[in-house]
Amino acid sequence: MSAETFLRDYWQKKPLLIRGAFPDFQSPLDPDDLAGLACEDNVEARLVELDGPDKPWQVSHGPFDDETFARLGRKDWSLLVQAVDHYVPEVAELLEHFTFIPRWRLDDIMVSFAPPGGNVGAHVDNYDVFLLQASGQRRWQLGGVMGEDAPIIDGIDLRILADFSVTEDQDWVLEPGDMLYLPPRVAHHGISQSEDCMTFSVGFRAPSMDEMVTSWADYLGEQLDESSRYHDPDLEAAHDGALIDESAMARVRRQMLAALDNPEQMAQWFGRTMTQVKYPDQLMPPITPANEETLRSALLEGDLLEPAPGSRLAWHPCKDQAALFVDGDGYTCSTALAKRLSSARAIDQEVLALEDAATLLVTLVNRGSLHWVEDDDDLDDDDDIADD
Ligand code: SIN
Ligand code: CO
Repeated sequence: MSAETFLRDYWQKKPLLIRGAFPDFQSPLDPDDLAGLACEDNVEARLVELDGPDKPWQVSHGPFDDETFARLGRKDWSLLVQAVDHYVPEVAELLEHFTFIPRWRLDDIMVSFAPPGGNVGAHVDNYDVFLLQASGQRRWQLGGVMGEDAPIIDGIDLRILADFSVTEDQDWVLEPGDMLYLPPRVAHHGISQSEDCMTFSVGFRAPSMDEMVTSWADYLGEQLDESSRYHDPDLEAAHDGALIDESAMARVRRQMLAALDNPEQMAQWFGRTMTQVKYPDQLMPPITPANEETLRSALLEGDLLEPAPGSRLAWHPCKDQAALFVDGDGYTCSTALAKRLSSARAIDQEVLALEDAATLLVTLVNRGSLHWVEDDDDLDDDDDIADD
């Protein structure tokens, strides 16, 4: 199916099962790698036990340790690790298959592991998701589209639907390489079958209207000066001094909408919002800050720069230049430079030919948004240091 057909007929509209989406798919990580990640500080991991030590459907949060995994039985639990694409480059590479959807819509790849019977209950998510079966089999059953008021089971850690009925013909066992696309709020229930199962969830971001309205108003508020105020030069004599009349409300509405309808500022705000990093602590500025001279000479020696894991870039045309958005901040630069930096390809010395490249690169390196690609020699050097 072409991307055009998928977007027209399915995206945000209805589920799609894609058998053999990734033919001969081999999981780029195994359950031990996932358990290892779940034991690390700053990695967001959850464990869901159907029959937990304290209660049914018990959810615990990482970091976990060997003891946690040692006490788990051979069935009925799931380990879910967020943003595995930030930690495992081979998982991040899968994102290249989804570039027909803007990168800034993407959130992360969550990876789950479940022995037989493991599941997180029938539920809805607010986001689009592609559920790629990585190993083992998972049975997916879908219900209808659920409203915000769909009843959920009380008194447990998870938001599991109290009433879940499977839609006819929407009950499938996914094999490795099969993939299921779900639009937001479609009820779904995925149970690991007779072998251990791993599922990759390619999840998207969509800010809620509540977040959008408040964050846009905050951003705009900072740009407006104190002298710009409610004004009423057309005021007519009041008969009732306590009345807020229709003409006052018409002025409020007109003045507010005129202030809010500011396409240029709106693009500046939206670019910053959609490039905010998932985990702010993950951006690590270099110990020794770069300057233009060190950056130029490193590039000229053949070193390469790339976006740091979790770093988010996007751009928007802005007059005859571009607004480049990186990890929640905005920069003005040439269109060529904005395109080059946000292309997700490693950056080599050729970038220096673009106007003002070195200055912007220094800023981005010193913020931790771009980092140097470690080549094998560098890795050997690190080993030497560790051995010493
Ligand atoms: C899972 O992988 O166990 C659950 C994914 C989901 O339903 O969103
Ligand atoms: Co879900």
